[in-house]
Amino acid sequence: MPEFDRIVILTGAGISAESGVPTFRDKGGIWATYDYRDVATPEGFEKNPQLVHEFYNMRRRAHQSVAPNAAHFALALLEKTHPGAVTLITQNVDQLHEQAGSKNLIHMHGEALKGWCLGCGTRMPWLGDMFLETACPVCADVGTLRPDVVWFGEEPYHMERIIKELEQADLFISIGTSGNVYPAAGFVQVAAEYGAHTVELNLEPSEGRTHFAEAIHGPATDVVPAYVRRLLDAALT
Ligand code: APR
Repeated sequence: MPEFDRIVILTGAGISAESGVPTFRDKGGIWATYDYRDVATPEGFEKNPQLVHEFYNMRRRAHQSVAPNAAHFALALLEKTHPGAVTLITQNVDQLHEQAGSKNLIHMHGEALKGWCLGCGTRMPWLGDMFLETACPVCADVGTLRPDVVWFGEEPYHMERIIKELEQADLFISIGTSGNVYPAAGFVQVAAEYGAHTVELNLEPSEGRTHFAEAIHGPATDVVPAYVRRLLDAALT
């Protein structure tokens, strides 16, 4: 394996599946039970905020009872040990990457364990339930709180920085994402256009599989630690 200096990694729901967090589009996934238009769009929130709060209260509780798996830990080890830069971009709103020890982490779709007050603009850690009647702890406004997650139709966070990272990447790795949701699904093409080697690590070939130069299919807890070992062996020998 050639040596790579700057590594950029994109993760999706598949990396957390073996920790017990359901994915969205697999059989029995979240969008098989819920219509995303009801619970993950600004229009859905306007129409029925109580339902949206209930959905995120449930997910927030679930996220606090799971632990990182071998794939999350392998990426944290890569960041710590790789001689060059490692940037981790996640579409996941869980906190498993940071719990595993990743530091250079971008939550492009926000974080389930944060709240955002549309009244005063404050973003804050939020571990308990949130309701329409909950007052903002900062400005005391009522009815202005929402989960700090990016919904369909909203612009993902930190896009300028992400594009810069993709343009400078020598290696782009996509892990556990179906390649259905843009802009993340297009990152492989940006990185490839700017010269990066591109790799997909996923349970099965994704929607974007033809855009990757290399693909390894299997459960994240197998394929991610194995790939990280290969990278570290190449860099450190
Ligand atoms: N190991 C590796 N990959 C897995 C595993 C596993 N154990 N289990 C499932 N996968 C793969 C599936 O094969 C699928 O390709 O993970 C992918 C999950 O795809 P999605 O459910 O579509 O999740 P994701 O790509 O993260 O969704 C993107 O869509 O609904 C929005 O905002 C939400 O961030 C999310 C975005």
